[in-house]
Formats: sequence, C-alpha cells, structure tokens
Amino acid sequence: MKNCPIGIFDSGVGGLSVFAELVKLLPNENYIYFGDTINLPYGTKTKAQLINLTSNIFEFFKNQNVKAVVMACNTTSAAAYDTLKDNYNYKIYPIVQRVAKQIANENHKKIGVFATQATVNSHAYKNEIQKYSPDTEIFEQACPQWVNIVENQLQNNPDSVENIKSQLELMLKNNVDKIILGCTHYPYLLDILKQFAPEDLFINPAKYFAQDIYQDLKHNNLISDKKGQEPKFYVSSNPEQFMLSSNLFYKVQNAKEISITIIHT
Ligand code: DGL
Repeated sequence: MKNCPIGIFDSGVGGLSVFAELVKLLPNENYIYFGDTINLPYGTKTKAQLINLTSNIFEFFKNQNVKAVVMACNTTSAAAYDTLKDNYNYKIYPIVQRVAKQIANENHKKIGVFATQATVNSHAYKNEIQKYSPDTEIFEQACPQWVNIVENQLQNNPDSVENIKSQLELMLKNNVDKIILGCTHYPYLLDILKQFAPEDLFINPAKYFAQDIYQDLKHNNLISDKKGQEPKFYVSSNPEQFMLSSNLFYKVQNAKEISITIIHT
C-alpha cells in the first residue's frame, strides 16, 4: 500500500500551490494530479454539483489504486467532503478541515478569509476554526474574479490589480490580524497582494496542509520507501493553458506530457 500513488486534485492550476509544498516534504511519492479544467470554476457551482464532480474524481482515483487523495481545493473540501468521506478505502485529506485546527491554535483575534463564493456560502472556515477557537472572529469574503485572473495569467493587467487592491481594502476595514488565502488559486496573487499590505499578513494554507499530510502518512506508515516516478498530470480540457498557467508553483514542462482524461459529469 505505501508505494501506491497519491491523488491530488483541483479545478485547475490552483492545487499546484499545494502540490509544490507536498513534493518538498514527500519527494519519493508517485503523484497523480488532476485539474478538472472543463468544469472550472468550481466556486460558482451548487453544493449538489460539487458533490457530483468530486464523486467522479474520487472514482477516477479509485481506479488508479491510490493510497490517498489530497483535496487541494477548498471549495470541494467545504461543500462535498462531509457527504463523500466514508465511501472510499483510501485516505482523504480535505484542505479546509485539515488546516483550520493549526490556524486556530495560533490564537488570532480576527481572521479574514478570501475564498470562492461556494466556500464563503458554506462558512466552512468560520465553523472549523471556531470549533477550536470560539472567540476568534472570522470575516469571509468572496473574490469572484480571482480564479479567472490566475487561470488566464491576467494578474499584472491593471484591471486585475485594481480588483485585487479593492478587495484587500474592503477586508482591511475589519482590522484583521491575518488573511487566509482560502482558495488554492490565490497564492498565485501574493506578488500583487504584498504590494498593498505586509506579506506576513497572508496565510497560504498549503504549507500547513502539506505538513499535516506528511505527519499523517508517517503516523500511518504510508510514506513510500522507494523513489517514485515522475508525477502524472491529467486535465479534463485545454492542457496547453494548464501548462502556461502552472509556471509559478510547479513547472509542468510540456503540454504533450499531460494526459487528457475526460471526467463525465
Ligand atoms: N482552487 C479551488 C479552491 O481552492 C477552486 C477554484 C474554483 O474553481 O472556483 O477553492
């Protein structure tokens, strides 16, 4: 079992911000990354749609004989994990639930969360953090255009910079101590965000998440004991776009190396 692959997925390139951290801690694993690019963005989907999409992806990974699936997507962790978590015999790691405890333990008074509309609607970050730290105030704010900005590499476009700046200004009115980048696409925008606020204001949950997964696999004696193969990348459409947008966190070298798997929904 320990040498079986780890599946990791997101709607697109966002999950690579998690993948990059995971590879640093667990370099010998066989990774299978899936970006459900045909169904992007997830943030505008209903809970029922997200459960359906996630269940198809879990089936895909089941057929790949994985030992674990990393939900490198806040939106499906928030909307679909609770419904599907007991249906599979591999480990499932949902980003929101796995990082909330660690962030709660830092004892911040006021935490902002930038996330997709579906994640905000679920209040998953607020509920999970307040389980461990009931007095922490949580301010959740949707940033509907940010996924599109990242997927299309529009971050340096003046309209995008203006949008990012105004969302940040709105959040800063709450006098937050920290802001969680609660969508795995958002760490790609850190270079812009830090032009308008100190970099250490922002929490990239990927670092907490990778550490947590590493500890859990170790605890369960599931870390691979031999060098894995090169990671395999799958998308459900447009591999060239995926390759171009991936650059900041993990350079996918050649679009021809990305297999195309169509997941029917
Ligand atoms: N990157 C995903 C997340 O963490 C989903 C973004 C989207 O497709 O809306 O929520």
